[in-house]
Amino acid sequence: MNMNESISRAADNSDETVMSAQEPEAETRREDIKVEEGKTVGVPYADDPKFKLRNVEVFYGEDRAIKDISLDIARNEVISFIGPSGCGKSTFLRCLNRMNDSIDICRVKGQLMLDDEDIYHSKKDVVELRARVGMVFQKPNPFPKSIYDNVAYGPRIHGLANRKSDLDEIVENSLRKAGLWDEVKDRLDATATGMSGGQQQRLCIARAIAVSPEVILMDEPCSALDPIATAKVEELISEMSETYTIVIVTHSMQQAARVSHRTAYFHLGHLVEVNETTKVFTSPEHELTESYITGRFG
Ligand SMILES: Nc1ncnc2c1ncn2[C@@H]1O[C@H](COP(=O)(O)OP(=O)(O)OP(=O)(O)O)[C@@H](O)[C@H]1O
Ligand SMILES: [Mg+2]
Repeated sequence: MNMNESISRAADNSDETVMSAQEPEAETRREDIKVEEGKTVGVPYADDPKFKLRNVEVFYGEDRAIKDISLDIARNEVISFIGPSGCGKSTFLRCLNRMNDSIDICRVKGQLMLDDEDIYHSKKDVVELRARVGMVFQKPNPFPKSIYDNVAYGPRIHGLANRKSDLDEIVENSLRKAGLWDEVKDRLDATATGMSGGQQQRLCIARAIAVSPEVILMDEPCSALDPIATAKVEELISEMSETYTIVIVTHSMQQAARVSHRTAYFHLGHLVEVNETTKVFTSPEHELTESYITGRFG
């Protein structure tokens, strides 16, 4: 079975569809398939990784949402996180730039290193961390400011440009990299909230790029976009991977297959399998991965 056949058998973009897909046979019921805690099959490690994550656990109060996950994220790779709703993809992603800090009941344990620096060190400058590890959310969230000011916001607060001409250059370059410059160059003073959803999402990408991050985290960045806007963002992701390390959460298996080098499959807070994307979608090693990608989801 090639990758397209494999993925087209899977229910895409909807857990509901997956749920109503072909009934599992009695002997392969999903709930009977064991996951060994802390054991991930495939290729979870990399040489000289950008992120080295070991024995990560995340608690919301007493509930353990992430259960002993170890993973390396390589430099300049695009890695997709996939898995059923509630399996911990967003929670794990948010550990990478300490976005979980804003959730009072959330506690993170384990070793999380970015270029050999402890992300959770008590003296870590979180503002600096988030400039290095930017984030794009599911719903485009431009500030109610002009297009120019949205992109200039980060460089201003981080003091990246002393002169107006330097700031203009950063804004133009960021909008160009986000594939938006030609559409907005004549209306940089217009308010960002008046743009289409797809444009707003590319503006949020431009805003993230403007502070020269090393990593960009994306949590379902296309789920509010139509197919044309989605295609533009996916094209951007491919171009951006030359410069940045990208971690993308997606419910679309086609999207994971199109944009990512490796794919990580999560299940109930466990990291079940990480492998080259082609391998995950053509010959997954774990039975749970297989049942998810083929839509046999009990
Ligand atoms: N702020 C929170 N407070 C308490 N529990 C939370 C919070 N956020 C997430 N959880 C719980 O943690 C678990 C993992 O949730 P998470 O949002 O990370 O899953 P997900 O894989 O991103 O799901 P989805 O695909 O629906 O976005 C779930 O059981 C969820 O209920
Ligand atoms: Mg999520």
